[in-house]
Amino acid sequence: MTRKKIIAGNWKMNATKDEAVTLVNGIIANYSDYNLSATKIVVVASPFPYIHYCSSMFSKFPNLIAAAQNCSEFEQGAYTGEVSAKIIASLDVNYVIIGHSERRQYFAETEEVLLNKIKQAQKQDLIPIFCCGESLETRESNAHFDFIKAQLENCIFHLTENEIKDIVIAYEPIWAIGTGKTATPEQAQEIHAFIRSEIAIKYSEEIATQISILYGGSVNAKNAAELFACNDIDGGLVGGASLKADEFATIIKAMN
Ligand code: PGA
Repeated sequence: MTRKKIIAGNWKMNATKDEAVTLVNGIIANYSDYNLSATKIVVVASPFPYIHYCSSMFSKFPNLIAAAQNCSEFEQGAYTGEVSAKIIASLDVNYVIIGHSERRQYFAETEEVLLNKIKQAQKQDLIPIFCCGESLETRESNAHFDFIKAQLENCIFHLTENEIKDIVIAYEPIWAIGTGKTATPEQAQEIHAFIRSEIAIKYSEEIATQISILYGGSVNAKNAAELFACNDIDGGLVGGASLKADEFATIIKAMN
């Protein structure tokens, strides 16, 4: 996969059906302002019940792509309530968020489980957006580099060269998620450069330069442009601000 600029919206557990329809229509209404291309894309991760609606609504809009927020670690069968990568892929959905800190925290997803999910996703040609990031306590004790390195080593660094090429990474410091407290461009750039250098050490410089690394954590219309201007920040994973079509459009336009 070539390195892309990506703005990914993560609706989390928000939007009733009517709200989802309004939001999708709002995203589409601004489409001509986005200037998307094969290397500049928008991904929208809605709750499961809407993923097929999103993929069919987006099908006429190139490079506007539906995503899932999670997938099962199992392939198929008797797993009540779970949604497999195979089901997701069959709905013309191309991306899946894996390892969001909320999944790790509230659903006890371990790195081993996350690796299984990534394998399931890749088996179906779904592109995983793998999330990593430290807590405030970890940052304040100055252990954030080691912590993130361990998150990479315990999960995606088990992938082969061919597999790692087809993932997107999102750095999301937990202290910045939904708090209105964004990492400064310098703080984010420092970690993105670190993640890229760890990929170069483990795999190669060539692979490291190919991987898109997104920043997530209170990205909004005001701070997006300066974050995206950093060399190693290839876009954003946007929660709260992706629920407002106009603000989301401003964030997408900040990629230019
Ligand atoms: P936020 O969420 O933009 O609301 O901070 C980001 C995320 O959790 O993906």
